[in-house]
Amino acid sequence: MAQFINELGDFNKIREEINNWTLSSVSKDRADPMEMVKLSSGYAVEQFQWLSYHKALGMIEDKDLQKLCTRIGFQEEEHLSRLGSVVDPNMTPMESALALQMTAIQAFSEAGQLETNDICKSTYDYILLDHLTQMKLLSDSASRMGAEGGVISRIMESFGAGAAPKMGARPEEITKGAIQIREGRPIEKQFIPTDDIIKQSLSKDTVPVESFVNVHTVLANDVQLRDEYHLFRRMMPSEDSRRLLNIVTAIENIHVAMLESLMDPKTSPLEYLMINELMEIKTHRQGIQFAKSDSARSAHEYALREDEQHLNWLRDAYSSYGSPAKFKATDKLFALPQMSINEYVNQIAAAVA
Ligand SMILES: [Fe+2]
Ligand SMILES: [Fe+2]
Repeated sequence: MAQFINELGDFNKIREEINNWTLSSVSKDRADPMEMVKLSSGYAVEQFQWLSYHKALGMIEDKDLQKLCTRIGFQEEEHLSRLGSVVDPNMTPMESALALQMTAIQAFSEAGQLETNDICKSTYDYILLDHLTQMKLLSDSASRMGAEGGVISRIMESFGAGAAPKMGARPEEITKGAIQIREGRPIEKQFIPTDDIIKQSLSKDTVPVESFVNVHTVLANDVQLRDEYHLFRRMMPSEDSRRLLNIVTAIENIHVAMLESLMDPKTSPLEYLMINELMEIKTHRQGIQFAKSDSARSAHEYALREDEQHLNWLRDAYSSYGSPAKFKATDKLFALPQMSINEYVNQIAAAVA
């Protein structure tokens, strides 16, 4: 087994090792928009999985398994450090808030297109419409603050012909046109009764693992958005923006509850962690496809390599309890959406208009 950071035995070695966790950041003026979105998504899934390992410790009895989770947790911490260090530290909270909306819209539009389970698909399409409105309200607020243009308009432009990550697509196919910042579901209709929030849970015996990977991926992205907004609203001097973020995070609790209610409560901690590893592998594979800078590419590549190893360790541990056959990264997991984000968003918005 690899050497883990806390087991190197010599603090100088540990510090030297941790110094490698900070890569050079990519300036927001030069960053490629899809690269930014995929970095943000990679960070979200890493944070989600890091927390899952820590939570799992209190849910499993086996001491060896607890040790394995602790060790892997250290590596997830490293992945977070590396990916986070690539993001330009000069991004303002408003720019970051908008980038997180873009990341969520991309994730829901991809999951909505690839999903084969009807309950999941309708949930993703529902949430996508809420995010469109949030995006519009935030970008209006950014314009009032004089923060339009720059990195945000470049991200929006890239969503025009969209982010369908087609293999071999020419950059101009991916980046032409601009996303229409349009209203999705009116904000006053986004607060819905609790009875409508809780969904019928999926059965792990009949629903394919790819569907669970989709749920975990959009959940990780939404949780990240909500948690970072909790932080941003304490950093923004504008009272208007803070109030807007309060409304958005209140609604995000609805989305998070919807997605969590889809989970099969019979999923064991080990199964949950394997689904998360598949989510990490899928996200980093895409991250590499869209990386333009050496920093972003190497952060995704490094994480991918170790996450593949994590999945192998977990599958070995799981084989004492059941068959790990379905917890495997197959071509089905790496399917790509056919439509651009803009095309898909327009289709979904038209269906409810
Ligand atoms: Fe990871
Ligand atoms: Fe991992």
